[in-house]
Amino acid sequence: MSKKIWNTKGVESSYEIASFLAGEDIELDKSIFIYDIDATIAHIKGLASIGVIKKIELAKLIKSLKELRLKFLNKSFKLTEKYEDCHSAIEFYLIKELGELGKKVHTGRSRNDQVLVAMRLFAKKNLMDCKKSNKSIARVLLRKAKKHENNPMPGYTHLQRAMPSSWGLWFASYAESFIDNVDLINSTIEWIDSNPLGSAAGYGVSLPLDRKLTTKELGFKRTQINSLYIQNSRGKYEMQIINTLKQSMLDVRKFSWDMSLFLSQEFDLLKIDKAYLTGSSIMPNKHNPDVIEILRANYSILAGQASELENLLSLPSGYQRDLQLTKRSLISSFDISLKSLNILPKLIGSIKVNKSKSIAYIDEEMKMTDKVYALVAQGKPFRDAYNLIKNSGDLSSYAQSNSKDYSEGSPGNLALDKLEARLKKQK
Ligand code: ARG
Repeated sequence: MSKKIWNTKGVESSYEIASFLAGEDIELDKSIFIYDIDATIAHIKGLASIGVIKKIELAKLIKSLKELRLKFLNKSFKLTEKYEDCHSAIEFYLIKELGELGKKVHTGRSRNDQVLVAMRLFAKKNLMDCKKSNKSIARVLLRKAKKHENNPMPGYTHLQRAMPSSWGLWFASYAESFIDNVDLINSTIEWIDSNPLGSAAGYGVSLPLDRKLTTKELGFKRTQINSLYIQNSRGKYEMQIINTLKQSMLDVRKFSWDMSLFLSQEFDLLKIDKAYLTGSSIMPNKHNPDVIEILRANYSILAGQASELENLLSLPSGYQRDLQLTKRSLISSFDISLKSLNILPKLIGSIKVNKSKSIAYIDEEMKMTDKVYALVAQGKPFRDAYNLIKNSGDLSSYAQSNSKDYSEGSPGNLALDKLEARLKKQK
């Protein structure tokens, strides 16, 4: 633990200080180790292309790095406390395996751009995964919306009975929201899709690094240009990503809220598969929707991470060690979001609608607005029609609107084909 890649002669850091500085880094770096190896391979290819290392040296380094990748995946190489972080671990490994040649790997880079590039690759992969989950959720919701397109549901505002609605509308409302999330994730991926490698500690290096090559090798859309801005974008990008994830999780929270209400005996409008319910240690009668409640609660963890990150970022420009703590926020945010999103498609697929209760809850009063519109259709000004219906004792003489009269997107006219087409077109 006390030997560092940056060690100064005669100065050994104490275990206590070293472990304070590392914090949770070793644990967190396990999530980005593979990406660090990929970026290291791209980096040395870049070094070879400008003649800093020879072709034969490049081949040896790549072979060793691929072995390290494999050893890490099959757990024969363990990232432990004896390394300060994953970046040092790679260098130590290469020096141990290849001696003098291993010492060349850090030419033209710093751990500051090394961590940035690994985190960015990690973020891109995880955003893709979140996008996939949002799409699967939207797909199931649209399927459900279609199935229940004409099944009535009481529509609520203020949690008070408002207007007749349909389960189709309810399912499709979430479908469209998750479709929006996919667009947002795509634009965030586009926004962060830039290569920070080659900026070193924030001030470049006096070598004509082949940044174009590493950008291409690592599959980035563009090269991030200004070396100081690259450092300053650490945390800024993370913030955008967490805020993007928050949108999906806001939907999860609202959906869970609805579910917990509609599953209660008081509403009794929906059922889900028993696999998602738990019993009680004391009350033999209970079937509790704990999964739904944990889904609802998980948003608060994300909100906590966003706030932790935002507070952390009160920093001057350039690298500061504080930035190490941005890793935790991002890794934990992805973890909680993916766990939550991935449980939803099957859970939603298992939802059963209580049709008779849904119809029974739609009382005559809820039809008043439709009746106002039946009068409007006959040529009465809206306010007069409204007052007439509001003050009329007898509602039965007014005919209801025909479903084809509904505006696009309302219960009588869900336009599900438009949502389906949009989902299909999304990258
Ligand atoms: N673990 C460090 C981080 O995440 C790596 C970079 C260390 N750089 C430094 N100048 N001490 O920020």
